[in-house]
Amino acid sequence: MCGIVGYIGQNDTKEVLLNGLEKLEYRGYDSAGIATLNEEGISLTKVKGRIAALRERVDSSIQATMGIGHTRWATHGVPSITNAHPHQSASGRFTLVHNGVIENYKDLKKEYLQDVSFVSDTDTEVVVQLIDKLYQKHQDTVEAFRETMRLLKGSYAIGLIDVEDHETLYVSKNKSPLLVGLGDGFNLVASDAMATLKETDQYLEIFDKEIVLVNRNFVEVQTLEGSVVERKAYTAEIDASDTEKGTYAHYMLKEIDEQPIVMRNIIKNYQNENNELKLDADIRSAMKAADRIYIIAAGTSYHAGLVGKELIEKLANIPVEVHVASEFSYNTPLLSEKPLFVFISQSGETADSRAVLVKIKEMGHPALTITNVPGSTLSREADHTLHLYAGPEIAVASTKAYTAQIAVLAILAVDTANVKGIQLDFDPLQELAIVATAMETLTGQKEEIEQLARDYFETTRNAFFIGRSGDYNVSLEAALKLKEISYIQAEGFAGGELKHGTIALIEEGTPVIALATQENVNYSIRSNVQEVVARGANAMIISMKGLEEDDDSFVVPHVNELLTPLVSVIPMQLLAYYAALHRGCDVDKPRNLAKSVTVE
Ligand code: M6R
Repeated sequence: MCGIVGYIGQNDTKEVLLNGLEKLEYRGYDSAGIATLNEEGISLTKVKGRIAALRERVDSSIQATMGIGHTRWATHGVPSITNAHPHQSASGRFTLVHNGVIENYKDLKKEYLQDVSFVSDTDTEVVVQLIDKLYQKHQDTVEAFRETMRLLKGSYAIGLIDVEDHETLYVSKNKSPLLVGLGDGFNLVASDAMATLKETDQYLEIFDKEIVLVNRNFVEVQTLEGSVVERKAYTAEIDASDTEKGTYAHYMLKEIDEQPIVMRNIIKNYQNENNELKLDADIRSAMKAADRIYIIAAGTSYHAGLVGKELIEKLANIPVEVHVASEFSYNTPLLSEKPLFVFISQSGETADSRAVLVKIKEMGHPALTITNVPGSTLSREADHTLHLYAGPEIAVASTKAYTAQIAVLAILAVDTANVKGIQLDFDPLQELAIVATAMETLTGQKEEIEQLARDYFETTRNAFFIGRSGDYNVSLEAALKLKEISYIQAEGFAGGELKHGTIALIEEGTPVIALATQENVNYSIRSNVQEVVARGANAMIISMKGLEEDDDSFVVPHVNELLTPLVSVIPMQLLAYYAALHRGCDVDKPRNLAKSVTVE
């Protein structure tokens, strides 16, 4: 969702801002803008649409040593130039970018800003007008900024420029991500480190409700009460080259192809010199102590959680509940006596998951986050973190993070079984190595899968994915992948549920994709396929070596039955990719979607 970049230094500000915004494009946005400050004042450029259009529109002759940039994912007000950020106060003194949702913006408008005329429909404009109003009272920008931040309710990451102050970027955050990047003679602000890796690998965390004054030579962190906070910088461990597309047409295809490497990275990082599993002792104790595990996640990460439930229950013998984060906060189930909460999140910034984390921490429960971004909010605020080692995932459609999440959950499950003294005939590191090889075979079969995508999805308006047992979990993920990037209405169903309603939707030619990788339900899922074929469906069976039949459309290599989602999902990801490609969709940046969903 919205992305922020800020810069104060010596160099060409507009290039740093535009480059940074390009790196944040993956988060999802519909409009963008930058504001730069020099002796002549503020120069503001905004567009509806892509950064490429912003780049064309920005005056190339502008030289400035500070500025702020923004990509907006519309919440309050349609995507338009007027609603795009940066926003300015009516006097023109203050210019501001914001990520998040100001919940009390109507109240603030009524109480403080009745005499101000607004130009946009955004909640953000209220913030900048309020800062200006409070400046008139305090005659001091820091005081006006501080008082405004005290009055805001909701989520925000904010960057502010005062046209009269060429030495300071004013920054604050609550619930929305924001970092300060540290340079030599310059400093930066960014929603995530990926935006500014070209400039620095040194970062300073900002905690909720802190105010940060960013000068080109120093950074001062303050509490809302005004006390100065000392904080050490950390090094971002992201290789800038990992965020490049290389020769690939799309990040999604690159990330699908990276999955075998990710499996091997996971094996390497969770193995000690004796080839045994390596996990922190405190994670082991937390897992051992839990009488029930509550997995909290959203979207694809939720689907990985469903596979994780099966792994943990079958291998470690601990009951597991999997909850959609946005539901859990408002409809909290009865909890066991010793719950352990496991948050699964590629980005580590999903606002719905964070809301649950805040709630369960208040209740005093322990939390473990499984994430691809160790310094992220969900990682920092949980007691423990397991890293996915998947490398940056840029495409909005999550692929390698899903398989990494399942692999790490398998390791966690087996490790817990070991700690509990449960004897298993399952070596996860060996099994994951077999999976990595199987993944390589599958990513080498793109032409076959592309042809299936042409045959089944070129003109259809809907599609159904069915499976039983572990395959049902993958069918949910397959449907999400297809719908989010190709806009084909797709649903995943348990094969056995078809007759209880869904079969009414089957018409002549309806694509039904059945997964058949589970021995105990192989016969039943094939019967379900016969039932839909008898009603005109255009069915495809994707099975596993050893369970295949002659007319199956595609057969994935054999892997341990508990890990089949790791391989059966790959043809599903590729089907979605080629369906979207052939339908002319923007594969990496699907409409209306954001990579990092940082508002509830
Ligand atoms: O960063 P997270 O894993 O917490 O994100 C959760 C979902 O927003 C994400 O998985 C989303 O469903 C993806 N677009 C799916 O491809």
